[in-house]
Amino acid sequence: MPPPSSGGIALAQMLTMFEQFKKPLWGSTAHLHLVAEIEKRVFADRSVYGGDPDFIDVPVKELVDPAYCKRRAAEVNQTARTDPSTIQAGTFAVAPPTVQKPRHETNHTTHFSIVDKHGMAVSNTTTLNDAYGSGIVVTGAGFLLNNEMDDFSAKPGARNMYGVTGGEANSIAPGKRMLSSMSPTFVFKPDGRLWLILGTPGGPTIFTSVFQVITNKIDYGMSIGEAVNAPRFHHQWPPSDDGDSIRVDQADGQRFDASTLKALESLGYTLKKSDGIGDVQAIEIDGRRAIGAPDRRNIGRAERE
Ligand code: DON
Repeated sequence: MPPPSSGGIALAQMLTMFEQFKKPLWGSTAHLHLVAEIEKRVFADRSVYGGDPDFIDVPVKELVDPAYCKRRAAEVNQTARTDPSTIQAGTFAVAPPTVQKPRHETNHTTHFSIVDKHGMAVSNTTTLNDAYGSGIVVTGAGFLLNNEMDDFSAKPGARNMYGVTGGEANSIAPGKRMLSSMSPTFVFKPDGRLWLILGTPGGPTIFTSVFQVITNKIDYGMSIGEAVNAPRFHHQWPPSDDGDSIRVDQADGQRFDASTLKALESLGYTLKKSDGIGDVQAIEIDGRRAIGAPDRRNIGRAERE
């Protein structure tokens, strides 16, 4: 997903960084620590460079450049935490352009795409932001107004309702679009065939959840159902009084080993228990079969016509 979502950039960065390491045992302390360290760096970049490309030049090419991601991955110590307060957004060999772009007026069109029996696919995420958006229904029209303003950075360093921070790149301006984390995603086989279709709600946990499902499939050999329903975890960087905190799933049937969690605490992480991170709906295309994988964390389900 391109800007103004951060999802596509963040997902590409996470996958390239993760690729640099020998894969730790799934669900081990080393696994959660490695991904948390990657996430801290990705969220630090997001907070400085993420924003509406109609207004700022998002250095997409630079951020997803494999050489840059390898450099960032090399900062990770696999056995010790980097304190979030010492992590900054990355810098590039050649500074990306910083000119304010003129706004183009393209607010008159709504587009939907449709899936057909030939395997043409759609991955679509849409958001009101928080539950019921702003809580205001348009009289006579019957739909809710969103509260998407919260996805902007109200002021540099201030956290939004999901606890993420941002700066000038994602400041509020007339007609500007806010920075999203939505990541409707297609994953293709090396021969170009479509393989996975997935996405989820969950604010900033969106791209970290999509990342985990993809790596659960590719690196840990899980079935699509297992990959979606395995416990998840999330780190989103900004230094805080809570310390270096990782959110971990505690939903029924979706728990990490107590020993993994204890060892993370010994490394110095603060653990925040969550009733369920994300709500991934995924499809795996296996030859002529489409395998639907709804998330048990919520009410989603797979249907076939
Ligand atoms: O675009 C975004 O990143 C947020 N507005 C998404 C909010 C969301 O997923 C809320 N659901 N849990």
